[in-house]
Amino acid sequence: MREVNLQSKLPEISTSIFTIMSKMALEYNAINLAQGFPDFNCSNKLLQLVNHYQKKGFNQYAPMPGVPELREQISALIKKLYGKTYDKDNEITITAGATQAIYTAITATVQTGDEVIIIEPAYDSYVPGVKAAGGIPVFVKLNPQDYSYNWDEIRRSISEKTKLMILNSPHNPTGSLISEDDIKQLEELTENTNILIISDEVYEHIVFDGEKHISFAESEILVRRSFVISSFGKTFHTTGWKMGYCAAPELLTNEFRKMHQFIVFSANTPIQYAYADYLQDETHYNSLGDFYQKKRDTFRGRIKNSKFKLMPCMGTYFQLLEYADVSELDDMKFSEYLTKEVGIAVIPISPFYDEGDTNKIIRICFAKRDEVLIEAANILSKL
Ligand SMILES: Cc1ncc(COP(=O)(O)O)c(C=O)c1O
Repeated sequence: MREVNLQSKLPEISTSIFTIMSKMALEYNAINLAQGFPDFNCSNKLLQLVNHYQKKGFNQYAPMPGVPELREQISALIKKLYGKTYDKDNEITITAGATQAIYTAITATVQTGDEVIIIEPAYDSYVPGVKAAGGIPVFVKLNPQDYSYNWDEIRRSISEKTKLMILNSPHNPTGSLISEDDIKQLEELTENTNILIISDEVYEHIVFDGEKHISFAESEILVRRSFVISSFGKTFHTTGWKMGYCAAPELLTNEFRKMHQFIVFSANTPIQYAYADYLQDETHYNSLGDFYQKKRDTFRGRIKNSKFKLMPCMGTYFQLLEYADVSELDDMKFSEYLTKEVGIAVIPISPFYDEGDTNKIIRICFAKRDEVLIEAANILSKL
């Protein structure tokens, strides 16, 4: 019998590095500092709230854009933090995680042949979304010394085919933050164009050392062209619940929702009600930066006298380590070696680049219990 002939839409995309490394961590019983999720539980209060709404019977489809109570809380939160009022009915949509929001924003806007500027290193969901929509990714690297933006290069890569730019701050994997000056550059670059922006702000509450997250919602110029996307998974230690949101002006939201309703229709109902209550206490998200800063410092303090070089980390729960003095191996092989031989699973930085990276850098996730971080740091610092 003849095999079905299926031409792949994404021929060069295979299993993500996060899945590969987590599987390897399990297989070799390694400490998993690879995939970006906490190894501790979310708050009991939040669990009780979800349970409360489940028992009360809030178990059927939510309205397509999300439950009004949660959209109202998100609108109030953005107003309080960034000074921008989004209309809860027409400008905020609850999604099944930020990944779905990003995919939805891409497919709602990108047409065959459109170019999309992607800043590298880049989170791995951006490129497949662009390609599936028939778009052409145009890559611009952050400066390798300090992971700052190269605005000349970004300017040069814009053409009349540029439909969309995807930016991410606080930035995974580098832990860098977008600055006021970057925002000005982006405003100048896009002001009289039709270029749209996806601003991936999933780590918005995880910022350190008194720095402040700058949301694209704060810029009067950028806000008109931006899908501002965030994720409750990162903020409330609930990555497995897959819930996030997209805030965008009505014109953009209308197109976003046309796709959203046929990709997922609506997100988990009792969890939406629970978050709506939980968001009312600002201490839950206001304390997150300090919480993770302590973890960052617990890890960094034990690595700083080792052969690894610590890169700056101003936000997110990721730390980059340069290992040129530890090994000659490339980052893929070195990560495999660390997992199999040393017992620590990490993520190589190459998969965050279209053409890989030769700078001998790995990423660890410090959203882990202190004892796990201490054990891992002690092992690494002996290498
Ligand atoms: C930069 C970035 N964007 C988006 C996501 C996805 O978020 P979610 O789990 O809400 O889909 C992640 C998760 O690791 C991320 O690091």
